[in-house]
Amino acid sequence: MTLRLGDIAPDFEQDSSVGKIKFHEFLGDGWGVLFSHPADYTPVCTTELGLTAKLKGEFEKRGVKVIALSVDDVESHKGWIKDINETQNTTVNFPILADGDRKVSQLYDMIHPNASETVTVRSLFVIDPKKKVRLIITYPASTGRNFDEILRVIDSLQLTDNYSVATPGNWKDGEDVVIVPSLKDEAVLKEKFPKGYKAVRPYLRLTPQPNK
Ligand code: BEZ
Repeated sequence: MTLRLGDIAPDFEQDSSVGKIKFHEFLGDGWGVLFSHPADYTPVCTTELGLTAKLKGEFEKRGVKVIALSVDDVESHKGWIKDINETQNTTVNFPILADGDRKVSQLYDMIHPNASETVTVRSLFVIDPKKKVRLIITYPASTGRNFDEILRVIDSLQLTDNYSVATPGNWKDGEDVVIVPSLKDEAVLKEKFPKGYKAVRPYLRLTPQPNK
């Protein structure tokens, strides 16, 4: 199944390191990050999961629940989590799905047969409170993801939803944002952007980040 931005994230039930997970129920009415790993006891995945655990506060601040996936079984996950905690100096504080039957991997198209027939690539999905897929990234197995970038995209998506702004290339939290082109009414602009805005061109209008 090919998933695209704006699609509803498919629901599923699967075992995990913390017991059976019903995905939509797990997400509740908040945001979610679902990300896959090629296999347990692999070096890159170990660092990624350690990093994610250390970013717990950052995900919580944004109302995001995190859930990982690997195609090994629950017992293997439990042993691996012990290793991650020891080697990465942290405590894994989110579930890891045990997708031995590849149910979720197939549902989310995480196996790319020309890369590997058996294990998942590094897929990552950001899902919004309406269960819509808002970000899809796919990294090769040999490249660990940049979790600062994932938080940056979540910040951008939440700004768009809450303030009718978009974020420029290489934008970082605290920098100016752009007003979405569909907003044209001067009275609305004044009300939404009390700090004012600069029109570099009629279609390129910059305003200070509204929630700062
Ligand atoms: C891994 O740690 O998952 C990995 C490392 C090297 C190549 C492919 C995967």
